[in-house]
Amino acid sequence: MSARNEGCVNNMELVRDLAALREKVDTIRQQGKEIGFVPTMGFLHEGHLSLIRTARAQNAFVVVSIFVNPLQFGAGEDYEEYPRDLEQDSLLAGEAGCDLIFYPAVRNFYPPGYATFVEVQGSLTEGLCGAARPGHFRGVTTVLVKLFNLVTPHRTYFGQKDAQQCLVVKKMLKDLNYNIQFNIMPTVREPDGLAMSSRNKYLTPPQRANAPVLYQSLQQVEVLIRNGERDGEAVKDTMRSNIASVPGTEIDYIEIMDVDELKPISRLAGSFLIALAVRFGSTRLIDNIIMEV
Ligand code: PAF
Repeated sequence: MSARNEGCVNNMELVRDLAALREKVDTIRQQGKEIGFVPTMGFLHEGHLSLIRTARAQNAFVVVSIFVNPLQFGAGEDYEEYPRDLEQDSLLAGEAGCDLIFYPAVRNFYPPGYATFVEVQGSLTEGLCGAARPGHFRGVTTVLVKLFNLVTPHRTYFGQKDAQQCLVVKKMLKDLNYNIQFNIMPTVREPDGLAMSSRNKYLTPPQRANAPVLYQSLQQVEVLIRNGERDGEAVKDTMRSNIASVPGTEIDYIEIMDVDELKPISRLAGSFLIALAVRFGSTRLIDNIIMEV
């Protein structure tokens, strides 16, 4: 174990120190190995693990970051309560094929006086979760630029459940000329269709029982659209009444956007994203499908 590393679990390294991480990835690159990177906020579930397994299959070395990034949480959001379990995460990530977990301390990652932020401007960040959570994507792109600079991956893996995040990060990588292959993997769901999320843990049993309505409403309109519906408002109305009929739900947004710029569309054509965010009490869940007609 290197002096600056925290430890080693079943041959998987746990690294907290930024300089130790650099040293390690420099060595890996000098050996001519390719690095796959899965950034996470921890509390790993099957969605994360499927990303790690894909990274394992495609790269010689796999890095997973676990960092609950304060910059992407707004005032009154769940930064403090966000679930954390490094021990369990280490076991799960190791089993899925991770070689190194990077879990920096906030005070080292953003030391006192930290003043640099990265922001994708325009329609990609203005609507959907960007409207509901001002500053959220600025926090996401800032942490990711730093993580990409530290990990220097060849490939990175994100889940489609966070579709807007995927489009924002893809744009940032392009605009900033990163040479990192960006991979979007399908949403992993519970058997009843609920998209896996660390925040599902917050749901009470009745909320958990009702939460599959989100994916059911997406599936229902998918059938309508396959059968010829092209009116975006009619599609959104169907979803709204479906979800609103479930007690305890509060719709934050239901939107249909084009997948290039994330601008709302009313007449369905080409490729589009149907996205929603719904609150069950204080827990806000998101889900989406991408369709092409
Ligand atoms: O999707 C997440 O878990 C986070 O937004 C990410 C990409 C790890 C950045 O903090």
